Amino acid sequence: MDSIIIQGGRPLNGSVEASGAKNAALPLLAAAILTDQPVEYHRMPHLRDITTMITLLANQGADVSMDDQGRVRVDTSSSNNPEAPYELVKTMRASALVLGPLLARFGRARVSLPGGCAIGARPMDMHLKGLETMGAVIRVEHGYVDATVPAGRLHGARIAFDKVTVTGTENLMMAAALADGETILENAAREPEVVNLADSLRKMGADIKGDGSSKITILGVSSLAGAELSVIADRIEAATYLAAGLISGGDVTVRKIEADLLDAFLARLRDAGAGVEVGETDGESWIRCKSNGRLNSVNIETSPHPGFPTDLQAQFMALMCIASGSSVIRETIFENRFMHVQELRRLGARIVLNGNTAVVEGVAELSGAPVMATDLRASASLVLAGLAAQGETVISRVYHIDRGYERIEEKLGALGASIRRNTPHTDMFRRPDIATD
Ligand code: UD1
Repeated sequence: MDSIIIQGGRPLNGSVEASGAKNAALPLLAAAILTDQPVEYHRMPHLRDITTMITLLANQGADVSMDDQGRVRVDTSSSNNPEAPYELVKTMRASALVLGPLLARFGRARVSLPGGCAIGARPMDMHLKGLETMGAVIRVEHGYVDATVPAGRLHGARIAFDKVTVTGTENLMMAAALADGETILENAAREPEVVNLADSLRKMGADIKGDGSSKITILGVSSLAGAELSVIADRIEAATYLAAGLISGGDVTVRKIEADLLDAFLARLRDAGAGVEVGETDGESWIRCKSNGRLNSVNIETSPHPGFPTDLQAQFMALMCIASGSSVIRETIFENRFMHVQELRRLGARIVLNGNTAVVEGVAELSGAPVMATDLRASASLVLAGLAAQGETVISRVYHIDRGYERIEEKLGALGASIRRNTPHTDMFRRPDIATD
């Protein structure tokens, strides 16, 4: 399997462009199922998860084409197989995003249950309960969700989520776009990716209000049309590059990203003593993060947007590993999202875990070592720690990183990192079986 090899201790300087957001692109691709007209996408990132979603759509009979400029075209007019098989779903939980659109368009769907996940149990109960409230009849058997709509068309409903769920909100919003009547989603996710989906559905002709708040109102329409959709910038990727500059004692600017996507993260970086600037040049927004030579310890607690994102918890922990003093990091979204702790310890970090709380005692220096990536964002934290560590860090199982970071070695290399990928010849064509975020 591929590994990434980093010689740490070099400050990163310069600028890098944010890619399109994986977590925005996935629901936007699923939304193509809602119309029999072609949908075109801009700023589609080249990532393993995107390939999985495209394969899923093609497997249903969609016609998909793409170019190397990040433009993708999906035409589901001849889709006739409303199924998401285990082989694809097990590699990416977000495959469940096709469930709502399939039911709305075809009145039936067969979607594999995703199975276990490294960062927590991650059930789908709220997706299923919401669709049932909208008139779907759902049976879960033989590892599959088998769903039909006896009335032929889903109907509007008032749905209050017990807990904020991002893909749950997206799934039901897509289903409601073609349902009969009004749907109100309460305690809805407010993530920017949800807003990107709502904007996209509106371009396709949907009637949606309130996205970005915790109450979203959708008035179903009888059909949606094709459209040109743009994927927003990847705030998690951008934040990871800003953190890379900071942890290495450098000065990194990420271009083509609006700072308001990252308010909570940038506030914590400022608390940690980073020089954070945001601005716009020639109509292009950017964020700059400059090290002042030392990091202060800062406490964080993850929470749904606009709180501190769980997808940046691991990366922030890497920063805190070399901060002065101790910081308390609480994970409130996923029960098992501390897989990186053991690996960071191998690099010399001092971290004590107690349930959903980690206490990180900053050390003066990390030292390179072989480590193993366990999930997507945990891998990113190991890359960050490796950039700061003295000597060589070898990160194995990097297929996790490829799910969410486009050309990471190239982008970090352009900023001055000494980083390379080792691909054993025999592994070049192997596809890993994983179930992750
Ligand atoms: C999305 C993101 C992921 C991010 C997560 C939280 C995508 C493709 N992935 O994942 O990167 O880490 O949001 O910001 O956008 N839950 C239930 N029942 C359900 C659904 C969720 O109990 O039916 C629980 C989950 O186990 C978790 C919490 O709700 O504890 C939030 O999960 P959710 O927001 O649904 O995560 P995803 O949408 O899967």
